[in-house]
Amino acid sequence: MIRSSIDSKAKSLHGDLSSDTFKKYATEAVDWIAHYLENMVDYPVLAQTKPGEIKSKLPNSPPAKPESLDQILSDFDKIIIPGITHWNHPRFFAYFSITGSYPGIIGELLSSALNVNAMLWKTSPSATELEEVVLDWLRQMLGLPEEFDGIINDTASVGSLCAMTAARESVNLQIREKGLTGRDDLPPLRMYTSTEAHSSIEKAAIVLGMGQEGICKIPTDEAFRMDAKALEREVKENIKKGIKPICVIATIGTTSTTSIDPVHEIAPICQKYGIWLHVDAAYGGSAAVVPEMRPLFNGWVQADSIIVNPHKWLFTPIDCSVLYCRRPEILKQAFSLTPEYLRTAAADEVKNYMEYGVALGRRFRALKLWMIIRSLGQEKIIHIIREHISYAKKLSEMIQEHPDFELLAPVPFSTLVVRFIPDKKLDESKINNLNEKLLDEVNKTGKVFLSHTKLRGKFGIRLAIGNIKTKWEDVALAWEIIRKQAMEMKNSI
Ligand SMILES: Cc1ncc(COP(=O)(O)O)c(C=O)c1O
Repeated sequence: MIRSSIDSKAKSLHGDLSSDTFKKYATEAVDWIAHYLENMVDYPVLAQTKPGEIKSKLPNSPPAKPESLDQILSDFDKIIIPGITHWNHPRFFAYFSITGSYPGIIGELLSSALNVNAMLWKTSPSATELEEVVLDWLRQMLGLPEEFDGIINDTASVGSLCAMTAARESVNLQIREKGLTGRDDLPPLRMYTSTEAHSSIEKAAIVLGMGQEGICKIPTDEAFRMDAKALEREVKENIKKGIKPICVIATIGTTSTTSIDPVHEIAPICQKYGIWLHVDAAYGGSAAVVPEMRPLFNGWVQADSIIVNPHKWLFTPIDCSVLYCRRPEILKQAFSLTPEYLRTAAADEVKNYMEYGVALGRRFRALKLWMIIRSLGQEKIIHIIREHISYAKKLSEMIQEHPDFELLAPVPFSTLVVRFIPDKKLDESKINNLNEKLLDEVNKTGKVFLSHTKLRGKFGIRLAIGNIKTKWEDVALAWEIIRKQAMEMKNSI
């Protein structure tokens, strides 16, 4: 009797939930997920909350005693859900539309249960070997040659940082060993990207000690593509001044317009001057699975490193970003640092992923990607991405036919930038204000969520298609809402 009361006390103080309790609530959570994903359209896409509203409903300090899962899940519904912007909604068209698909969610669930750390082969051989295999599958799907070796990072921001570190390592200036500060034996270093590159590239330069001035932003042409001639001019002039070019970062699918840098023109320049070529295809890369889209990727096989984010347009729950590297040994040279407590006997025969990036601890992200690729299959993946591209093409034709709207950029993938011009005589700042207001009104309907960008001073409304559940009807509804709100504004001008 005494023993059992000690046992139950010990359990309540130290134990996790019982497996029966887990089963009950996990089943409830899975039912909730299925219902949520099936009835997504009932939610306003963009959270309709005010700053601080969610915090005000939460206690300031943690509970001292256990709380029931009934209560916690009820608060999840009542407090947390109203403050959620529904990224998994088929009418989420902002930023880059993404998907946490069912097989991906199952992968995340199982990965949490295993809770392995994929830092060393030994710490879970399956996690390492599955990552190797699934990234080789993805490489084949993307049409990249065999020499590209992949690693999964959380984000493209981190993947690009790693690639740029490898680029810096490749020039043998002993920066890994001696650093950058207080050295008079180093030339000024330069990396090059376009004015349309993602901010993560500049951030990586900051982290790498190159500074914002260490990144040279090459101008773009009328279609927002890097001007390769201007790049070569800049590189030549810099070399003449004693500056050392170490990396060019080209983008296939820039963030604002999804423009495509002419990688086939940039690659020979990089080869000529011995510069590392990194291609950021975080969003656009997934479209390479579609055979007829491959010409847009002309030249990327010559890159030293490439980023593709399955968590953007490959139906993988965030986070999962793949960095492919043609010379993984340089990535390893840049990052490998193995203290005694992480040494393993089989180090020469296996891959220890911790040696190829910043993070030691690594989630088992390959599992969800494996489940997605297997359960959808290549043909279905190609079909869905092809559909998204066709919706964008159809919508861009409709926009071009409308007298009060214009496209601000070409539409190579599934993202459009559009603006409303009710009267050609209005000045630019008035048109910008109108479009900002229009976007606000459209988003306030809760039926769709779109974001914006500014292109050469022009405010544009951005609509990105990429969710697995998005159908043409969803895109058509977004266009109908935009037109309706715009016409109301036009009538009140
Ligand atoms: C072209 C491009 N590169 C990099 C990123 C950064 O991605 P992540 O959030 O994975 O760091 C983005 C994000 O939208 C992007 O559009």
